[in-house]
This record gives sequence, C-alpha cells and structure tokens, in this order.
Amino acid sequence: MKLISVFILCSTVLLLSFESISHLQNVYLGIEPDASVEDYIIELGEEKPLHYIKNLNQDSARMGYEMVYFGQLKNKENKRISKFFVCTDCHNQVREVENLANASPTERVKYGIEKDIPFLPASTFYGMYNKEHWYNGDYKRKYGDLVKPTLDTLENAIQLCAVQCSQGRSLEKWEIRSILHYYKSIEIKVKDLLINQEKLNALTDNRSKIELIKSKYNQINDATFGDVDQKQPLDYKENLKNGAYIFKNGCLHCHKNGKNITAFEFDDNTLTFSFLEAKLQKHHNYSVPYIVRKGTYSVSGKKQYMPQYPLEKMDNYQLYDLINYIKSQTK
Ligand code: HEC
Ligand code: HEC
Repeated sequence: MKLISVFILCSTVLLLSFESISHLQNVYLGIEPDASVEDYIIELGEEKPLHYIKNLNQDSARMGYEMVYFGQLKNKENKRISKFFVCTDCHNQVREVENLANASPTERVKYGIEKDIPFLPASTFYGMYNKEHWYNGDYKRKYGDLVKPTLDTLENAIQLCAVQCSQGRSLEKWEIRSILHYYKSIEIKVKDLLINQEKLNALTDNRSKIELIKSKYNQINDATFGDVDQKQPLDYKENLKNGAYIFKNGCLHCHKNGKNITAFEFDDNTLTFSFLEAKLQKHHNYSVPYIVRKGTYSVSGKKQYMPQYPLEKMDNYQLYDLINYIKSQTK
C-alpha cells in the first residue's frame, strides 16, 4: 500500500515536471506575440543594430513623442526644432499597410481609406526602428554626399531630416536619444507579422528562422522619383474614391486653410478645383502632376518646401485618380 502511494506520488511529480518542461518548450519554440521582432531575431543570432535599445525608457519615449508631434517638449524646456514643420506633417506614426511585407502604393491607399490615415510623401515612423538603411533609392542617388552618413545610421538620418527636411536646427544628443526611444515604443512586434508558427518551428537552423521572419516586413523604405511628364498608364481604370482620399488625406493634410504650413492654402471647394484644373497641363509648380513628382525646393533653413511623392508612395494610377478627381469636382 505504502509502496503504491510512493509510486503514485513519484509519477505525479514526474508527470507534473514533464508538463512544465513541455510548456517551457512551447514558449521557447513559439514566440510571445508581444515580443519585439528585433529582440527576437537578435536572440536567434542576428547582429544588433547601431541604434539598439535594450530597455525602453518610458520618460525618454514620451519626450521623443512630444518633439515628434509638437516640435518641442510640452513644457517648452527646449527650443522648437523647426519653425515651419513638425515631423507629423510629413511622417505618419502608425502602420500604413495590412501586410508589412507588402507596402505597395495600392495597399497604402486601401488600408489608408479603411483606417482614415493621412496620405503622406515620407515614410511612417511605425517600424522605423526595424529598418536597416535610410534614405534609400533615389534619395541616395540624388543627394549623394549629404545622405551618405545616414545610410546605415538611424541617428544620422534623424539629424539630417531635422535640419534638411524640416528646415530646422540640429538636434542635441539627448533629443535624438529620446526620438529613438519613441521609435522603439512603436517598433514592430511579433504579433504584427503574418508568421506561420508551424513553418517557423519546423526550421532547424537559426539563420533560416531569421530569414523567414525578415521576409515578413521590409528592411528599407525604397524610393523612385517619377518623371514630371507622367503618362496615364495603359491599363488605367479610374477610381475617384482613391482620388478623393489622396486629395483630402494627402494634399489637405498640409494645405488646408488654417494649417499654417504653407503660404498656398486651399479647401475642397469649386474655386480650388477649377484653379488646379486650369493648371493641369502646365509645367510649373501649380500643376498637380509636376508638383507631386518634383515637389518644391528651398534654401536651407529659410523656407518651407513640399517633399515630392516617390512612386512607392503614390504611383501613376493614383496620380491619375487624383487628377480625375480634381476634374470631376469642377463639373
Ligand atoms: C517637410 C517634410 C518632412 C518633415 C517635417 C520631416 N521629415 Fe523626415 N523625411 C522626409 C522625407 C521626404 C524623407 C525621405 C525618406 C522617407 O521618409 O521615405 C524623410 C526621411 C526621414 C528619415 C529616414 C526614413 C527612411 O526610411 O529613409 C527619418 C529617420 C526622418 N525623416 C526623421 C524625421 C524626424 C525625426 C522629423 C521631425 C524632427 C522629420 N523627419 C521631419 C520629410 C520630412
Ligand atoms: C507634407 C506637406 C504637404 C503635402 C502633403 C502636400 N503639400 Fe503641396 N506644398 C507644401 C509646401 C510646404 C509647399 C510650399 C508652399 C510655400 O512656399 O508656402 C507646397 C507647394 C505646393 C504647390 C505650389 C505652390 C507654390 O507656391 O509654388 C502646389 C500646387 C501644391 N503644393 C499642391 C499640392 C497637392 C496637389 C498635394 C497633394 C498631392 C500637395 N500639395 C501635398 C506642402 C505639402
């Protein structure tokens, strides 16, 4: 009798410990949905990026948030970064597509309409922490030496944009650090990726696991500057709903009356649409296809300017949707 109960006790202990081991193994093989993608791949052997942050500092992240949204700390203990812009004029702060591995302009418009997100020429800060290079594609080609220090270093990309894109002052170290902590607070989490857990678990070496995970989001924001003489794509089919979205969530994001970002303010009224329509065929700043592809330039630190939309941010189908929407509003 005694022997039997000892036996039962032992087997329960055994069973229990077996249970906890297999539970642990599940946690180990699986990934916590809230885990940081960056930390997860680093655990698998990926190299840490230069801007790597181990522990998020909430206070720094809050200060970074305030500078990004308001241009300076809310208590005004630092000077405004730019007298013309705040980062959110040109950069969104949320994800812009459903599937992070497919950030095509079509997906951006689809998701943007669904979630009512601004339609902006620069890249979102959501997941900026997870990128590996900055100022890619035509930014790199056209601005050469200016962007060289930013290509592999997020700190430098932030600094360049504060000074050049936002026409402001250079940032102090603690300010850049705060913005980095803010970026970390909106980094990509495992749950944001469409990963097939079983496929991942079936892989035996860590390098293949890292590759699989990285195939689920983009490591760069690419950029191709379009020509100012855009032709309507041959298989173009008009979509005025997209055009209206681009006008309202894109153009009006900066130009709406009272926004105070540009000297050229307008609303969505017939006067505006007739004005823009009349200039459509012209080759200058007031022509929509021209301004979308070329933007405006500015003398360093002196003036606000309009960033162009690269093809990755607005493709030619969408440009024609915008043009046709403008035309449709004058009838
Ligand atoms: C007037 C518009 C504008 C403002 C304001 C602005 N940016 Fe940018 N920024 C751009 C454009 C255009 C790019 C080009 C690359 C891209 O975003 O895809 C860029 C690029 C960047 C990049 C590199 C992105 C990449 O993936 O290559 C960082 C980082 C950045 N900006 C940070 C900031 C910060 C921080 C602020 C505020 C202090 C700011 N920007 C304000 C327009 C702007
Ligand atoms: C990120 C902010 C931003 C967005 C988005 C934006 N613009 Fe602009 N735009 C500007 C700024 C800044 C200027 C420079 C105007 C100035 O000097 O005050 C400008 C200039 C212009 C001009 C020329 C005015 C001139 O004085 O040369 C036109 C036309 C124009 N934008 C149309 C558009 C259209 C159409 C869209 C939508 C596709 C758009 N903009 C989206 C910021 C923006």
